[in-house]
Amino acid sequence: MSKLLKSMLLVLAAALGTTAAVQARPIEQIKKDGKLIVATEGQFSPFNFFQGSKLTGFEVDVAEAIAAKMGLKVEWKTIGFDALLTGLQNDRWDMVIASHGITDERAKAVTFGEPHYCSGGVIVAKDPAIKTAKDLAGKVIAVQVGTTYLENVKKVAGVKEVKTFPQDTQSRAALQTGKVDAWVTDKFLALTAAKEDVKYGFKLGEFLFVERIAPAVSKGNTGLIGEVNKALAAIMADGSYAKISTKWFKEDIRCK
Ligand code: ARG
Repeated sequence: MSKLLKSMLLVLAAALGTTAAVQARPIEQIKKDGKLIVATEGQFSPFNFFQGSKLTGFEVDVAEAIAAKMGLKVEWKTIGFDALLTGLQNDRWDMVIASHGITDERAKAVTFGEPHYCSGGVIVAKDPAIKTAKDLAGKVIAVQVGTTYLENVKKVAGVKEVKTFPQDTQSRAALQTGKVDAWVTDKFLALTAAKEDVKYGFKLGEFLFVERIAPAVSKGNTGLIGEVNKALAAIMADGSYAKISTKWFKEDIRCK
């Protein structure tokens, strides 16, 4: 065997070895185990957050309803937003549900399910004159790092400065204390925040962009995502999704 061929085979073997080590759990194995390991952030109220020490929120309820339809319990993991999708690639958990918008970039690395809600990034400010993308010119904007909010704010012409924070709650605090002129975040989160932060006088402006939000699994774990999609469709059809959504938002936020 030539030296070159030999080293090529070695590289191939190493690559296969790595793939085997990080193989996502197939649905059969998950079912045998009886639990679905789901990761979320826990800092994105009312979607996923901590009430004291208890993880709760719209997405926590939705994932548990999906798992129940699949005959599974959920084992929750919480970790910083930017580590969630990477954890799928390293097979640290079976699924992520953390308000990820479906983007081409992310879809290269993970497999998205059907969307569990539709929303978008809105402009939030205290100054009622800051409502549209144009109004962001010359302004300082707060966004969470690793999000579609950051990606889309970067596209706006004339922005003075984009301040990024590891957590969305820190962007919100920056607007509260007047360190920034505007905050771009999820529309439903902003509606909730504006109600909670009445004394700060948050005003919601327009959508900067809209997006479809979906759970994700390890790239190519089609067996698992197929079952998740089926279970999501089932809870959307039997009224349980509507009940969960109304509980958190007083409306049904599924994609129309
Ligand atoms: N929807 C935005 C995105 O896709 C933000 C998600 C933020 N989620 C969170 N758990 N902090 O990037």
